[in-house]
Amino acid sequence: MNLHQQFQSIFKRTPVIQTKAPGRVNLIGEHTDYNDGFVMPIAIQYTACILAAPRNDNEVHVYSVDFQERASFVISHHIPFDKKNTWSNYQRGVMDQLIRHGYKLHGADCLIHGDVPIGAGLSSSAAIEMAAIVAFRSLNDLDISMVEMIRLSQAAENQFVGMNCGIMDQFISGMGQKGMALFLDCRSLDYELVPFPGDTYTVVIMNTRVKRELTGTEYNERRSQCEEGVQLLKKKLPGIQALRDVSIADFEMHKNCLPDIVRKRCHHVIYENERVRAFSEALKEKNTERMGQLLFKSHENLRDDYEVSCPELDLMVTLAMEVPGVIGARMTGAGFGGCAIAIVEKGHEKDVREKIFYEYPVKTGIEPEIYLSAPSQGASVTVL
Ligand code: GLA
Repeated sequence: MNLHQQFQSIFKRTPVIQTKAPGRVNLIGEHTDYNDGFVMPIAIQYTACILAAPRNDNEVHVYSVDFQERASFVISHHIPFDKKNTWSNYQRGVMDQLIRHGYKLHGADCLIHGDVPIGAGLSSSAAIEMAAIVAFRSLNDLDISMVEMIRLSQAAENQFVGMNCGIMDQFISGMGQKGMALFLDCRSLDYELVPFPGDTYTVVIMNTRVKRELTGTEYNERRSQCEEGVQLLKKKLPGIQALRDVSIADFEMHKNCLPDIVRKRCHHVIYENERVRAFSEALKEKNTERMGQLLFKSHENLRDDYEVSCPELDLMVTLAMEVPGVIGARMTGAGFGGCAIAIVEKGHEKDVREKIFYEYPVKTGIEPEIYLSAPSQGASVTVL
């Protein structure tokens, strides 16, 4: 049964819209978004997809094809968190945000299916949030911009789901463009689409299949260490609001006022922000050597200073870098497991795949997964 038929069989009616929103990989700019810094992600071809029809009442019924479970709730000012069907909290969360911001909503029947690997650090949750909010906008004819939907989806993840993420994942899921990398200033939300030369390079995504269980607590700890860095550096640099405002020169001058751990965290973020700008330029110039250096430097800092890598991610990067035709590699996303990426000259993808499939299981006992993706389109809606 295709999704349309499944919708009919479950809800006994016909869907009227279909929305899609992609997962992402971040080319460079890790743990910089919540420091008001720069990121450069691409949307990937794996998506969350929602088929939906409006209802005349205020009930929302959601069926997950992947979990084969159904969840229902009533639109109100107190939409409850679902401890059992936790997958439904993304729809609940975005609806909760829309209501809090005064949008009038009707009930809906929704069928959800996603092929973004879950728990792999490819932002399956941002994809579901964006697919859901775009569906609710369309069903209720809401006057709301994409950027506002992105902000509300991030707020849903922060406040409803309880993950204190930055804005990168929702932003690229909403605003990604086919064939383009997106350079984003996470403070102003100004962005620039930079063509990704898909005829020359491919992004190979290597899943360590190590689950990122520590992500929540460790992630929040990194955030507070950065905030502590800002408070301490403020004594020397009173004008700063976030690590984004600290130049490399100022950091080098004042870094000794920071405790070891905080200094290492700040070091990564401040240098990483510069790397994102440099990478964007190198990509425009197709300067592969520079791109490669920046990717690897990013990985090294994430491993040694930000301490969010793990042996399996390091191994993926090392293995990939040994393959001729690989421009550079690094871990991507929050870390502690999940995926690494390699930017590879076209035609060498197979060599990376073979090396990883052969050597990674021997060294770790884990079967990896590999995905290829050209930069893809952000959230969209189709009227059926
Ligand atoms: C997760 C978060 C993002 C970002 C990355 C790290 O994916 O959701 O907001 O902070 O980690 O760069």
